[in-house]
Amino acid sequence: MRLILAPMEGVMDHTMRDLLTRVGGYARCVTEFVRVVDRQLPNRVFHRACPELSQGGKTPAGTPVYVQLLGGDPDVMALNAHALERLGAPGIDINFGCPSKTVNNSDGGSVLLREPERVHGIIRAVRAAVSPQIPVTAKIRLGFKDSSLFEDIALGVEAAGATELCIHARTKQHGYLPPAYWAEIGKVKPRLSIPVIANGEIWSGTDAQQAQAESGCVDLMLGRGALSFPDLARVIHAQYAGEAYTPMPWATVLPLVQHYAAQLEARAPKYAVSFVKQWFTYLRRQYPEAESLFQQIKRMKDMAEINKQFKHGSYP
Ligand SMILES: Cc1cc2nc3c(=O)[nH]c(=O)nc-3n(C[C@H](O)[C@H](O)[C@H](O)COP(=O)(O)O)c2cc1C
Repeated sequence: MRLILAPMEGVMDHTMRDLLTRVGGYARCVTEFVRVVDRQLPNRVFHRACPELSQGGKTPAGTPVYVQLLGGDPDVMALNAHALERLGAPGIDINFGCPSKTVNNSDGGSVLLREPERVHGIIRAVRAAVSPQIPVTAKIRLGFKDSSLFEDIALGVEAAGATELCIHARTKQHGYLPPAYWAEIGKVKPRLSIPVIANGEIWSGTDAQQAQAESGCVDLMLGRGALSFPDLARVIHAQYAGEAYTPMPWATVLPLVQHYAAQLEARAPKYAVSFVKQWFTYLRRQYPEAESLFQQIKRMKDMAEINKQFKHGSYP
């Protein structure tokens, strides 16, 4: 079983990828999307999205990081994929799931799910532009308004030469509202021979088991669950292997938060406070202690003040 850390724009940056892959359990990561419009992007754009490119395309813990491209023009997507291969990206992922209006107005993401042949054309062009040993993966939703084209899309993704397919088990219309329709994946999965990865609403070991059973997929992608529960991947692996595992208590998670805050202060001081608070919006879902700490820091504007709260808060 492989667990993959989801791409999440504005959240799952290299600092968070570093932290979560050190905690462990992830077979790979995918960067936040890089938007491709009408030209080859300069190398610095790829290095910004994926600083790991300077380290062989892996996080410090050794987990490969695929770079995600989003765009609607097959030739320009191919150009950029080729550039990424030269920069040493271990794999290229193509985003056909992003529901954002600004993104869709500029032609990319889930809007393309209305036209399966365009999805397939982009994959074919990217596949042809990079060496056969470079994985080209696709990330889709079940559809745009509904899932009527889902099977066509999925079968065509494989025919176009994708190495793997990750499916967020919702349509664009569903947005991020629960539930995720894992069983929809299960209807099409038997017709595919490439590995299929199920994604959406996996917050616990029990969710993972249910997602696997309903989708027929062994491999899973974790997004918000991974942020709420930093050792969720280890919990799922242990459960799958039938081994005992005690999830990290808050007392172990808090030093990770402090480490994350320190890293951000060094790398992106302007964003440190908002990024730390953003992580708390996920952590408070899993840990009552994070909820009360969040209430104490949510109006603070200064990292030093927040750090003080971390040290002197009413927590063990
Ligand atoms: C804040 C946020 C940013 C996201 N950014 C991306 C992105 O850049 N590329 C992408 O393919 N999916 C993106 N997604 C979708 C996630 O990768 C994932 O498919 C979705 O959150 C469902 O999985 P989850 O329930 O495990 O979070 C984003 C989701 C969220 C909540």
